[in-house]
Amino acid sequence: MNPSIPLLSLLSFLLLSSLPSSLSSNPTTTQTTSPLDHLCNNLGGFYITPDYCFTSFAADSRSRTADYNLLALISLNLTISNATNVKSTINSMLASSTFSSTTPSSEPVHKGLQTCLKLYDDVIASLRWSAQSVSAGRYDGAKEVVEQAVGVPASCDAMPGLPLSKENDGFSRIALLSQAVVSYLAN
Ligand SMILES: *[C@@H]1O[C@H](CO)[C@@H](O)[C@H](O)[C@H]1NC(C)=O
Ligand SMILES: *[C@@H]1O[C@H](CO)[C@@H](O)[C@H](O)[C@H]1NC(C)=O
Repeated sequence: MNPSIPLLSLLSFLLLSSLPSSLSSNPTTTQTTSPLDHLCNNLGGFYITPDYCFTSFAADSRSRTADYNLLALISLNLTISNATNVKSTINSMLASSTFSSTTPSSEPVHKGLQTCLKLYDDVIASLRWSAQSVSAGRYDGAKEVVEQAVGVPASCDAMPGLPLSKENDGFSRIALLSQAVVSYLAN
């Protein structure tokens, strides 16, 4: 039994009830909107839902307290990891007998996969360049490069018969999030 606990709670009750009501009960004066909240709630123009935005940034615990610049870098890195995953998927497809280059029926798909691999390779290089620009505070060039990155899945999808629609869709969405954040900074 600790006799100081009831006393403490009585004290804190008295303390709280003596606070001006603007401090104790009005949340708008004690909370500020974080850059993450503000950003995720204002990307509708890019067809990005708050839910997708928050869920994607939740992959990096720094997001909650990040400023806009760090949020852009985090989203670019998430986009780069996504492209890296797409590349490994393509590489396993290229290595599998299903898409062998020596089987006449699968040869066009094999070629298409190689083209997509190259597209994703290039997009990783340009996203890295964008991330460097963003960390140096140069947003305009970064914005253009990220806009081009968003178009990569469509070029890959344009080749017939490739089993990559899930991967292309996933990359499109996260690349669009990067584009939205970088555009926000560039404006
Ligand atoms: C992004 O990735 C690069 C390379 O892996 C790393 O050096 C950098 O610290 C990362 N930045 C952020 C903000 O995660
Ligand atoms: C990344 O890509 C995969 C498919 O390759 C997708 O399922 C995933 O949701 C994507 N997005 C993120 C944010 O990792």
